[in-house]
Amino acid sequence: MRNAGNSNFEVVQTGAAVGAEVFGLDLRQPVSNDVRDLLLECWFQNMVLLFRDQDLSDEDILSVADVFGGQQVAGSRAFFLKAGFHAGATHRVAKHAGISLVSNLGEDGKPARETAGVGSLEALWHTDNSYVDIPPGGTLLWSEIVPTNGGGETSFNNQYQAYEELPSDLKKAIQGKHIRHDNLRNTAGKLRPTAKEPETREEITGPAHPIVRIHPKTGKQCLYLGRRYKGNSSYIEELPNEEGDRLLDRLWEHTTQDHLKWTHCWRKHDLILWDNRCTMHQRDPIDHTQARVMHRALVKGEPIISAWKN
Ligand SMILES: [Fe+2]
Repeated sequence: MRNAGNSNFEVVQTGAAVGAEVFGLDLRQPVSNDVRDLLLECWFQNMVLLFRDQDLSDEDILSVADVFGGQQVAGSRAFFLKAGFHAGATHRVAKHAGISLVSNLGEDGKPARETAGVGSLEALWHTDNSYVDIPPGGTLLWSEIVPTNGGGETSFNNQYQAYEELPSDLKKAIQGKHIRHDNLRNTAGKLRPTAKEPETREEITGPAHPIVRIHPKTGKQCLYLGRRYKGNSSYIEELPNEEGDRLLDRLWEHTTQDHLKWTHCWRKHDLILWDNRCTMHQRDPIDHTQARVMHRALVKGEPIISAWKN
C-alpha cells in the first residue's frame, strides 16, 4: 500500500515483462501532488498501469492526461477532418481535440468489420503516433463498450528488455541508424482517409527517429521501431532497401517475442495508461457483430533523446 497522505492506493505488478494494476483510486477525483508523484514513479517503473472500474467522462480522461504530463492531439485527427468528418458529429471524431474515438462502429452507428478507422481488424504491433516529430509520451485508453464475448485484447511489450536482450551483432548493426516512420497508414495497415498508396519509399513523409532512444525520466535505452506495414512503408534511412528490410525483419522478430509481453482482457470502464517511449502494443481482431467503443487521450511527449548522441 502506498501512503500518500490524502489517499491510499495499492500497486500489484502483473508478473509479466510489463504492467501493474492500481487499486484504490477514483480518477474522477482530483489527484494531489503527492499521489501524482507516486503514480508517475509507478508508471515509469511498470510502463503500463491498469485502473479498473473507472466511470469517466471525456473531461475526466483529459484531466488524468494532465496528471501524467498534459494533452496532445492525435496525428490521425487531421486526416479525418481533411476527409470531411466533423468533430462531435460522427462516431469517428470526438468533440474534444484531445480525445480520439477508437471504435468499430460504422457511420450508421452499428459495429462493422471495416470502417474509416481500424474497425474490427487487428491493430498490428506499433507505438502510438511514432509518425509525428514529437510522439506522445503516453496513451490513456478507456473502455466504454466492450464485446460480451471477448476479443479485442490488447498486448503490451517491454522495449527496454528488447534492447537489453538484443544479440550483439544486431546492436552493432543498428548503431547510429534511424527509421523513417510510415504516416500514411493506420495501425491495421490501411491507408488513412485522403492518403495515397506510396509508389516509392521516398513518398513516406513521416519523421526519422533513432532506432534506440533514451527515456527522459529513467535514462534507460529502449528500442524504438514504431510501426511497419506491407509495401512501401517504414525503412532505415542509412541502408539500401533490401539490406534495411533484412535488418528490420530481424529486429521485429526479436522485439515481438512472447516473453516480452503482457496481454490485457478488457472489462467495461477499464482505464489503461501506457508509456509510448518504452513499450509497443497490439490489439487482437474484434467480433465485428459486437460493438467496441474506447476513448483515447494522448499524454504529451517531448523531443526524442537519441541514443546515438550520448
Ligand atoms: Fe495504438
